[in-house]
Amino acid sequence: MLINTRNILLEARQNQYAIPQPNIWDINSIKAALKASVEVKSPVIIGLAQSHLEYMGIEEAAILVNFYGKKFNAEYALHLDHGNDYQTIIKAIKYGFTSVMIDASTLPYDENVYLVKEIVKVAHACDVTVEAELGHVGSDNPNSEIMKNFQSVLTEPDEAEDFVKQTNVDSLAVAIGTVHGKYRGKPNIDLDRLEKIAKKVSIPLVLHGGSGTGEDMLKKCIELGISKINICTDLMVAAKNAIKETMNSTDNFGDINLTAEEAIKKCLIKYYRTFDCINRI
Ligand code: 13P
Repeated sequence: MLINTRNILLEARQNQYAIPQPNIWDINSIKAALKASVEVKSPVIIGLAQSHLEYMGIEEAAILVNFYGKKFNAEYALHLDHGNDYQTIIKAIKYGFTSVMIDASTLPYDENVYLVKEIVKVAHACDVTVEAELGHVGSDNPNSEIMKNFQSVLTEPDEAEDFVKQTNVDSLAVAIGTVHGKYRGKPNIDLDRLEKIAKKVSIPLVLHGGSGTGEDMLKKCIELGISKINICTDLMVAAKNAIKETMNSTDNFGDINLTAEEAIKKCLIKYYRTFDCINRI
């Protein structure tokens, strides 16, 4: 069944577990994510990132995710990850996405508030849930402006409280030291900051850059209020390695695809266990 993220994330926050948001980029990743969720009897938030639209478009993803979601009898939300312009977000809503992220996190605070408020008005009128980002999650590029001033872009707890009040957003992505992509060196996660944010903000909190953060650290983040964790890089690496391993032993690309799907599913199920998101339906 296609659902939005409101109730599942509130329930996750109340009961201290997290729902994975695997990113999808092709049919293998869609089937793997839905099958993993069915196998662990828990919901899944299927995330299509705006930066991945060249791999799979909005309409295409909506058709395929709904087709396989129904076929496998999954409980799934369809989410636009890192939407960064009004047109793309409205298009996702039009094609039946049940959840959207507006990422205006690189803009000044007031502009971020303004844009999120505008999206929330439209999305809520369509019963679509909204995630926003405050502070800015890092990247694996050490030369980017963000990474040069990494400490200064972490989420401020008082600002987070004001942001949620002003925007009426449904969930908040926080910047506490995780990075998108591969970490260079050991992850340096600011758990004190997360604890402070969670005390001031009661809506579900979202962690981006889940890959490579480490099982123990992710568990600690969940204890402190994280209810949704985004995973992309590890799933892509799992698929890539599976393809590499089978490439030389067969010319049957159908079989190669199957091994990629299986590897993504296995990797995601491991995350489901770490997030304590088993038998949650
Ligand atoms: P990773 O690629 O680091 O897992 O991050 C995924 C993510 O946060 C997508 O929004």
